[in-house]
Amino acid sequence: MEEREISRAVIGRLPRYYRYLGELLDAGVERISSNDLSKKMSVTASQIRQDLNNFGGFGQQGYGYNVKYLYTEIGKILGLNRQHNMIIIGAGNLGQALANYASFEKSGFSLKGLFDVNPRLEGVSIRGIPVRMMDELKDFLKHNEIEIAALTIPKSKAIEVADLLVANGIKAIWNFAHTDLNLPDDVIVESVHLSDSLMKLSYNITSYNEEHGSKA
Ligand code: NAI
Repeated sequence: MEEREISRAVIGRLPRYYRYLGELLDAGVERISSNDLSKKMSVTASQIRQDLNNFGGFGQQGYGYNVKYLYTEIGKILGLNRQHNMIIIGAGNLGQALANYASFEKSGFSLKGLFDVNPRLEGVSIRGIPVRMMDELKDFLKHNEIEIAALTIPKSKAIEVADLLVANGIKAIWNFAHTDLNLPDDVIVESVHLSDSLMKLSYNITSYNEEHGSKA
């Protein structure tokens, strides 16, 4: 098949398709038409067909989509068909919340370690994983195959710690610290800003109120 660049927008929509298809699978649904998927997901059927055509079109005329097949193929595209070993740097509020969220494991993200500088956290375990001190990091990375590091530390420390991670072989960073990391091109960074989502919510509240007349 001819290699084609898939647009960022399509890639951005794939996790949602994957989530819905996973729910359909769990509910025992074997196949679904693009129209039914469209109603369920509030996306137009033509958008669904267009998106999925990027991957050679998994649908069949008159049959719809085979849910298991589509789920598996999208999983492969997203790289979820293999395990990703992960560590969390910063075992504070957010780091511990992420570590406690066991569902990531179901998608293949396996938490192998938690690191912090606060000696009071030494020995604390989250889901059986002990918090280690940062001076153990180098050795830990030498002896464990870790692909992803989540950064849940203060912004002021993020750049320095990201550099340390990269110098010790980390190739992917899930960055929660609100700062841009200037890392080599072969290091993949995905930054998360929950506040962006909250601002979108605020925008939607504001425009709803403008349309319907605010009571405020
Ligand atoms: P927190 O203060 O509870 O936890 C931060 C932890 O990092 C502490 O345990 C601290 O000891 C540790 N730490 C500090 N320097 C370190 C270093 N050099 N190496 C390793 N660990 C170190 O803070 P919280 O609430 O967990 O937030 C963590 C970060 O995530 C902050 O930068 C915050 O702004 C950010 N954040 C981002 C969100 C987002 O949507 N991107 C949402 C919430 C928080």
